[in-house]
Amino acid sequence: MVRSNLKGHFIVFEGLDGCGKTTQAQLLADFFFRRGVEYLHVREPGGTVVGDKLRQILLNPDTVLTRWGEVLLLAAARAQLVQDVIQPALARGEIVVCDRYLFSSLAYQGYGLMQDVELIRQVNLEAVGGLMPDWTFLLDIDPSAGLARQANRRGLDRIEQRDEGFFQRVVEGYQLLAKKYGFIKLDGKASIQEIHRQVVTIIEQELKF
Ligand SMILES: Nc1ncnc2c1ncn2[C@@H]1O[C@H](COP(=O)(O)OP(=O)(O)O)[C@@H](O)[C@H]1O
Ligand SMILES: [Mg+2]
Repeated sequence: MVRSNLKGHFIVFEGLDGCGKTTQAQLLADFFFRRGVEYLHVREPGGTVVGDKLRQILLNPDTVLTRWGEVLLLAAARAQLVQDVIQPALARGEIVVCDRYLFSSLAYQGYGLMQDVELIRQVNLEAVGGLMPDWTFLLDIDPSAGLARQANRRGLDRIEQRDEGFFQRVVEGYQLLAKKYGFIKLDGKASIQEIHRQVVTIIEQELKF
């Protein structure tokens, strides 16, 4: 994929379940809406017909799936979303706000499920035609706090039901990925409005609004 043909900007939120990704992605989308900026707000997995079907399979606690089955279904959903939705929006010059991206596969299936991180990276990069975000925000939170937020709200999905060792490995994985890919790390324990303010400050600087 020739990134220079894509005039838009690609912003990703990453982090553990309950860290505040969906909250912050929505607030940022609302911010762009108020500013009259053309934007697209999507979440993973999902956002296409096939992606939404795969999301149901992936998150359903009754689903029985091998580890690489999980890797490949996630990559399939991601590939469809990039090809059908994200890439066209970037080509139109829009700002894309995405709730999770391929780093989630590296953190969860790679580090969390202890599968080959480099192979997962290659499979995903191939699936998305090499598209990487301009900015990735990592909302830092410890696993128990994040899962407590989720469980209070709606019960836990299939992936959220994994044991604490799994989430500890995911946290450590995210820290390694943050260094390697230059994530912008924010304290997920700060208030919702404070985190939003930090996100907007950085985006305003970067995009020179
Ligand atoms: N900074 C925050 N402080 C306290 N609660 C938060 C914060 N951010 C989000 N929440 C709450 O925690 C829960 C999970 O947030 P959510 O944005 O859905 O997380 P994620 O999408 O990362 O799983 C929601 O009920 C949300 O209102
Ligand atoms: Mg969410």
